[in-house]
Amino acid sequence: MAFDPYAAFKLSSTKPYHHRRISCLPVCVAVGLVFILVFILVSTRSAPSQLRFGIVIDGGSSGSRIHVYGWRIGEGMVPEIDFAASGELKVNPGLSAYAQEPERAGESLAGLLEFGKGHVPRDLWGKTEVRLMATAGLRMVESETRERILESCRRVLRASGFRFRDDWATVIPGTDEGIYAWVAANYALGALGGDPQETTGIIELGGASAQVTFVSSEPVPPEYARPLNFGERRYNLYSHSFLHFGQNAAQDSLQELLVSEGLKSAEHVHQGIYDPCTPRSYSHGLESGKLSAGVPSLQAEENDVAHVMGNYSACRSLSLMLLQKEKDKCSFDECLVGSTFVPKLQGRFLATENFFYTSKD
Ligand SMILES: *[C@@H]1O[C@H](CO)[C@@H](O)[C@H](O)[C@H]1NC(C)=O
Repeated sequence: MAFDPYAAFKLSSTKPYHHRRISCLPVCVAVGLVFILVFILVSTRSAPSQLRFGIVIDGGSSGSRIHVYGWRIGEGMVPEIDFAASGELKVNPGLSAYAQEPERAGESLAGLLEFGKGHVPRDLWGKTEVRLMATAGLRMVESETRERILESCRRVLRASGFRFRDDWATVIPGTDEGIYAWVAANYALGALGGDPQETTGIIELGGASAQVTFVSSEPVPPEYARPLNFGERRYNLYSHSFLHFGQNAAQDSLQELLVSEGLKSAEHVHQGIYDPCTPRSYSHGLESGKLSAGVPSLQAEENDVAHVMGNYSACRSLSLMLLQKEKDKCSFDECLVGSTFVPKLQGRFLATENFFYTSKD
């Protein structure tokens, strides 16, 4: 894989990062999906003060977001981001919405690339690398369609004037997504290169999936363990991506659960179904049910008549039911979420992505 974090870390400086003051921390962390690794990976040893650019397009389930980063190689060959020269822009919908017409997916990137050109001086376009990293939205699309969507994007990226190679447009594995977020957060906090126990874990809420990544001192089953070497430090990371637990996907699952629980209970057949997780008089409109393919029409109708009533304790127990689903398939001593192993949470955590965007709405 082109973006093997291990490879990136082997290339990186052995000097620990020093704490840097960053005023927009929540933003930096929320948007910092992958850029640190990209920069470490692509940085050639050029003159220290020269401003350069890198572009990452984050192909999420709810939209595609371009991040343009201005950066220079600083002290100790550590890349430093120039936030004044950086910018981001999001377009809706995400690439996975083009499953019916994959050939048109690339067009959705045109506006983003124009934005990129506005940020990068023309003489640097050819030296500026553009990468497309898609996540859970596309991960859920059937493989042949997914490849056609990516190919359509590659055509547009090849013609963009920026530096691009076909293998720079990929769907990244969920565990990598968590690792990138963890690296970005700890880089921004100045903790990368320091004591593993002083690092900060991340809980990242995407649209279709959620990632949990942190240093664990417990033994972790190999499929969840992602040891990471940085300089002389070794970080024993636990990382997992919970597919269907992103904000929109979880909302859909909750609706399905409501309907199936409602259908089980005779009294609800007469009284209708109550949705305790939606505030009174709020309408989901067309948004709900978009991510869950194959909901039978009976359920869709039931959904439409669900009474919304915003009840915290009822919503909480419903959510807990969702987290317990498939617990019987747990093959470990204990599973915190469904049949997934999660070690005891330890240390500080940052809640990123939709946790951040929701707090801004
Ligand atoms: C909210 O839900 C709880 C638990 O289901 C129930 O006991 C309570 O009466 C509900 N409150 C209101 C105001 O409906």
